[in-house]
Amino acid sequence: MNEVDAPAIWPGDWSEALRLDRAPGLADVDAVMTMLIARADQAQRRTIGFPAATDIDWSRTQGLFTRLFNNVGDPGTAPSGAAHTNALEVEVIRWFADVVGLPQNDRWGYVTSGGTESNIAALRVARDRYPDAVLYLTHASHYSIRKTAGLLGIHPHDVAMVRDSWYGEMDYGHFEQLVARHSGRPAIVVATAGTTLWEAVDQPDRIERILDEYGVTRRHVHVDAALSGIPLALDGMLGLGAGSPVDSIAISGHKFLGTPIPCGVVVMRDSVRVERGEHISYTATLDSTILGSRCGQAAALLWTAIAVYGRNGHQARALRARRIAAYAVERISSIGWPVYRHPDAFTVVLQTPPAALTAEFGWVLSVDGDFCHIICMPGVTKEVVDEFVADLGRVVARWAVMAECRSRPVWRGLDAGEDRILSA
Ligand SMILES: Cc1ncc(COP(=O)(O)O)c(C=O)c1O
Repeated sequence: MNEVDAPAIWPGDWSEALRLDRAPGLADVDAVMTMLIARADQAQRRTIGFPAATDIDWSRTQGLFTRLFNNVGDPGTAPSGAAHTNALEVEVIRWFADVVGLPQNDRWGYVTSGGTESNIAALRVARDRYPDAVLYLTHASHYSIRKTAGLLGIHPHDVAMVRDSWYGEMDYGHFEQLVARHSGRPAIVVATAGTTLWEAVDQPDRIERILDEYGVTRRHVHVDAALSGIPLALDGMLGLGAGSPVDSIAISGHKFLGTPIPCGVVVMRDSVRVERGEHISYTATLDSTILGSRCGQAAALLWTAIAVYGRNGHQARALRARRIAAYAVERISSIGWPVYRHPDAFTVVLQTPPAALTAEFGWVLSVDGDFCHIICMPGVTKEVVDEFVADLGRVVARWAVMAECRSRPVWRGLDAGEDRILSA
């Protein structure tokens, strides 16, 4: 259903209904909540540019949201009382640490507010370890990495920007040049497993070989695996097991697992931590996390997703989603539209279509100039792909006619009215 056909759930402008500068009790809270849910439900099917799985049923966890669960402090030190989900968080961290192969006696982590906090937590540890390090990141690194560098007070002169290839993966030749230039200093290297636009995966083994070659032994390799961490680790393609050069990994919870609140996980080798956190007497916990109070529901949601599906179930979800992504590539190329997908990716990159695809047909894509992507996360079906390709075909056909018309003198300069003219 597109915006034009949308039912008038809230006739007219609803901003009036949201105003808080009037007497308490006058707002129709139930109607506003109903509207929010209806808007989100209506948009969900066509919001395929952002990586949130929609196939998991969370109804059993709804009751958790009527009370406070606060996992304040380090998960290894349970807060007092029962208004927390600490025991579930400990299990969640154990599961993630097992999936990425962290040794039993050398692992630490916690449930964060999202991939961003996971990156901050990991890079803070790396920075404590090597305060004089050069931070290597690529142009395809997520913006949270640059923000983290600022938060940690890393001077721009100590940041080495590595070029990425046209498809988003680190340019190892350029990385090598930069390492050669700074070989006397420790290195904090951020690799990405699933870049935001292309879902490219940097290779920690190649990073390790280059650091070895230049004798950079004081190093911390962090993998920002917000999107692809769980599926790649489940398939044995990413890990922190014996021999892995990776020290820490950041994962988002609302992406592959599709939790209904943003959350994430950070796990790392315990041995890389220099600071362990101050003991806070009145919370009875260690302050080792970036945030103080933390959302206990997040740990319970992650626990639920893991408990219901297990490793095999999540591997099967990833496999099904990749098949849908491959199907999308096939269908999009069948109408002659340029499209690309990395092996194992959920992300399908295409040339940015005419804006009418969003404006008229309601498809919400993630656009970056000439390229945009759709992401076939678990929950996106073949039927959704078929609908998308049919609408893409419609706007492209019209666009092609329009391009042809524009090349004729009579149509030149009619840009403002072109859609109206051609659809009339
Ligand atoms: C590669 C990468 N890292 C980090 C993040 C940030 O994750 P979050 O939005 O959970 O903070 C994202 C989000 O899109 C991402 O794609």
